[in-house]
Amino acid sequence: MKLSLSYKKILLWSVYLVLFFHITNASSDSISINQFLQDSETLVSNNKTFKLGFFSPQNSTNRYVGIMYNIQSQSVIWVANRDKPLQDSSGTLTISEDGNLVILNGQNKTVWSSNISPAVRNSTAQLSDTGNLVLKDNSSGRVLWESFSDLSDSFLQHMKLGTDKSTNTTNLLKSWKSPVDPSDGSFSAGIQPETIPQISIWKNGLPHWRSGPWNKQIFIGVPNMTSFYFSGFELVNDNTGTAYFSYSYADQGDDAVYDAVYLVLNSTGFLQQKDLYAGKNEWEVTWATPANECDFYGKCGAFGSCDTNSSPICSCLQGFKPKNEEEWGKGNWTKGCIRKTALENERNNSNIEQGTQDWFLKLQSMKVPDSAILVNSAEEDCESDCLRNVSCIAYSYYIGIGCMNWERSLIDIQKFSNSGADIFIRLAYTEQEHKKNNKVVIGIIIPIICSIVIAILGYFSWKLLAKHRGRKRKSDFLSSELFPRYYKLKLARDDINQVKFEDLPLYNFDMLANATDNFHQSSKLGQGGFGPVYKGKLPEGQEIAVKRLSQSSGQGLEEFMNEVVVISKLQHRNLVRILGCCIERGEKMLVYEFMPNRSLDAYLFGCFSEYFLDWSKRAIIIEGIGRGLLYLHRDSRLRIIHRDLKASNILLDEYLNPKISDFGMARIFAGNQDQANTSRVVGTYGYMAPEYAMEGRFSEKSDVYSFGVLLLEIVSGRRNTSFDQDNCALSLLAYAWKLWNENNIVKFIEPKIFDSSLEKEVCRCVHIGLLCVQEYADDRPNVSTVLSILTSDIAELPTPKQPAFTGGHASPKQESFRSQGSVNADSITILEPR
Ligand SMILES: *[C@@H]1O[C@H](CO)[C@@H](O)[C@H](O)[C@H]1NC(C)=O
Ligand SMILES: *[C@@H]1O[C@H](CO)[C@@H](O)[C@H](O)[C@H]1NC(C)=O
Ligand SMILES: *[C@@H]1O[C@H](CO)[C@@H](O)[C@H](O)[C@H]1NC(C)=O
Ligand SMILES: *[C@@H]1O[C@H](CO)[C@@H](O)[C@H](O)[C@H]1NC(C)=O
Ligand SMILES: *[C@@H]1O[C@H](CO)[C@@H](O)[C@H](O)[C@H]1NC(C)=O
Ligand SMILES: *[C@@H]1O[C@H](CO)[C@@H](O)[C@H](O)[C@H]1NC(C)=O
Ligand SMILES: *[C@@H]1O[C@H](CO)[C@@H](O)[C@H](O)[C@H]1NC(C)=O
Ligand SMILES: *[C@@H]1O[C@H](CO)[C@@H](O)[C@H](O)[C@H]1NC(C)=O
Ligand SMILES: *[C@@H]1O[C@H](CO)[C@@H](O)[C@H](O)[C@H]1NC(C)=O
Ligand SMILES: *[C@@H]1O[C@H](CO)[C@@H](O)[C@H](O)[C@H]1NC(C)=O
Ligand SMILES: *[C@@H]1O[C@H](CO)[C@@H](O)[C@H](O)[C@H]1NC(C)=O
Repeated sequence: MKLSLSYKKILLWSVYLVLFFHITNASSDSISINQFLQDSETLVSNNKTFKLGFFSPQNSTNRYVGIMYNIQSQSVIWVANRDKPLQDSSGTLTISEDGNLVILNGQNKTVWSSNISPAVRNSTAQLSDTGNLVLKDNSSGRVLWESFSDLSDSFLQHMKLGTDKSTNTTNLLKSWKSPVDPSDGSFSAGIQPETIPQISIWKNGLPHWRSGPWNKQIFIGVPNMTSFYFSGFELVNDNTGTAYFSYSYADQGDDAVYDAVYLVLNSTGFLQQKDLYAGKNEWEVTWATPANECDFYGKCGAFGSCDTNSSPICSCLQGFKPKNEEEWGKGNWTKGCIRKTALENERNNSNIEQGTQDWFLKLQSMKVPDSAILVNSAEEDCESDCLRNVSCIAYSYYIGIGCMNWERSLIDIQKFSNSGADIFIRLAYTEQEHKKNNKVVIGIIIPIICSIVIAILGYFSWKLLAKHRGRKRKSDFLSSELFPRYYKLKLARDDINQVKFEDLPLYNFDMLANATDNFHQSSKLGQGGFGPVYKGKLPEGQEIAVKRLSQSSGQGLEEFMNEVVVISKLQHRNLVRILGCCIERGEKMLVYEFMPNRSLDAYLFGCFSEYFLDWSKRAIIIEGIGRGLLYLHRDSRLRIIHRDLKASNILLDEYLNPKISDFGMARIFAGNQDQANTSRVVGTYGYMAPEYAMEGRFSEKSDVYSFGVLLLEIVSGRRNTSFDQDNCALSLLAYAWKLWNENNIVKFIEPKIFDSSLEKEVCRCVHIGLLCVQEYADDRPNVSTVLSILTSDIAELPTPKQPAFTGGHASPKQESFRSQGSVNADSITILEPR
């Protein structure tokens, strides 16, 4: 598979090359003074991804100069002379005497110019591998102009959308007028420097769509946007006028399933994500917004809420009524709603009686209204601070953003089926009326019902307990009973339903039973969190590992198969391969390639001391795990957060290459929620990031945390989890941190592997490990960064901050973290599959 992919790629590029030599005689990527690019010629970027040349849109004879992907189907990402087309093919592109990049028509008149001043004597324009056309001063190398600071309708990796004060540029996407006319259309998209930035699409300058605020990982108003989905996204905001957004995808090498991804604002005002899968020649639209009626800005007017699942889609918030009943009834909602009862400060009697204060109505899973004000209040003060401020009419608290307030009006509210934020709307005391009535009912009836229920429950649980006691020992091993439901990591873009089952071999039950000696205890390799694993041998001699899944997946058969097929497509040299599966007799089994050597923990922590791993092997293992993880995180079709990365899940092949196992299990064991947030935590104590263990929030960065722990274990040869016993109450992380602060990291390194010539390299590894286990997810590097610093010699690494769980001197922040009523580290229900 891997081979055929790269083969395909080579083939693809050779096709490009052949085409390329046919149509052009200039194979350069740059143009200098006194050189001319004729209509029939192109500049091609060094690695052949992009080309610059003349083109006509479909059904048009106008000629434009643009940058496009170097593939057969036309995909223009930037146009120079957007509103000044050439009428014929006599145009040329050149560098003029004043150093400008210019387009000349047949009469040598300038049609378009890069418009730099003052003039430079000698400049060169070069098309880079990122698709950026850069005009440089030849003598100083200074960048005079670049196409990335004058965007058209396409948003590529490394572009910056928004304002960058350091270069004095503000970038907007501007839609084409129509598919045949690249001149400025009615739509634009960008980011405005606000305290809580968001992406907006404007139609003729008025808001048309907005993403909702950025919480440092996702835009919270985009449903299904999870941090791992858009993992390469970055938003820089320094609150002094610089706020821009950019993204990058990691280089996937030979394992790539796509060649390119970009976003485009099309002429009808939709922001689309387009993917080009490896070996294909057509772009696929994998995401687009606005996605439904409710996504259009202010669909239901002020104080109106939009819900695609109700009819009509618009309703006034509780406590509000339509401003104009007649128009509202006709479906013209834009005028919005008004308050039924004035708030306390709007009432004229200045002395408000006790007990007639305003209150807050809670709305769950909402797209928060536009124009949020960021307030410097703690979570617990957010409500009271809002109540105290007469102009505050709503508040919301969101992790990663903080306390938000609204004034005057609430516009562009939407109800999501899941995800979104909880918002609290300020209402007058009297709007509470029906709530009070409820209270009476609740006050009498609830206690009666409760006592009945308790009595019944008590009886049954007593009976159950009695019955259960006999089986307890057994069920401790059966993780199916303990195993919480995983949240689904399903992504909207995935074409899971189109997966063909033929792609995955189905094994029949008898065959696997024979191969494993009827699942005999002696062929059992181990017991994972998802069920036991057996070693087997197929009739033709191939050795396999069979994982018999416990029954907790709760998925339909087709759904299960879909997941398995999709996961089995993930192939990477650092992932264990899935060979097929079996679904028969109520059993679900996965068949894997067999790994002759054991898992990493056996090598690191004892038993196999004869197979001692020296530093060079350890370094290879660390890098391999990193590469496997990067593939899981950054694969474009399926972003997978492993969530249980640990030494026993790293298997070693015959050459001691590491292979990550149990990946994708979270998908198979998924529930129906899309949030990257779970109230039940699964993982292994010692490897779980604090935000995951305590708040159930997982992301790429929680895997990075586990990777950091693993890295420290590999270097020190000591288990994080068992550390407490042999080193009086200091965890491995705390120990590493202590030695780091004492400047004595050498002591941390396993003595057997230590060699003073390696000191620098190994210490660097510990340094990286400490960066990965920092308490705040934002501080941790992502896997691609980790890999690049592991494999290169970047001299300056940032200084790590204190890791989580070190105890002792907790910072004030840590204290509030604990006092939020979250679970204490010791009391988490921990599953530690062996
Ligand atoms: C080009 O013209 C053909 C025939 O008139 C039409 O079907 C097609 O949609 C046009 N394409 C575009 C992009 O307008
Ligand atoms: C335009 O300029 C080029 C190069 O300077 C020259 O060869 C050509 O004759 C000129 N064409 C016209 C129409 O002036
Ligand atoms: C541009 O610079 C090169 C040397 O870098 C020099 O030889 C050439 O004369 C310069 N051209 C002009 C027009 O100044
Ligand atoms: C060319 O370079 C760009 C940017 O570095 C990269 O995204 C792309 O994958 C490269 N293409 C090839 C064929 O190497
Ligand atoms: C300008 O610089 C580029 C690359 O540095 C070089 O290839 C080119 O020959 C130079 N042009 C002139 C006119 O010096
Ligand atoms: C940005 O523009 C301002 C005024 O327009 C100017 O003072 C400043 O020097 C510029 N900064 C840069 C980096 O070009
Ligand atoms: C989000 O995901 C759910 C379930 O996968 C899907 O039904 C819904 O249409 C998605 N929403 C959007 C806006 O893509
Ligand atoms: C713009 O994108 C939307 C959503 O993908 C699509 O329905 C529409 O046809 C596109 N418009 C044009 C002109 O391509
Ligand atoms: C809706 O109301 C607005 C403003 O009151 C008006 O301009 C518009 O024509 C109305 N639309 C419809 C479909 O009635
Ligand atoms: C409050 O008093 C002002 C003038 O005294 C009046 O115009 C306004 O309507 C009153 N508001 C309410 C809610 O009674
Ligand atoms: C609350 O009060 C402060 C000043 O006291 C003011 O600046 C702010 O805009 C008010 N409104 C909200 C919603 O915080």
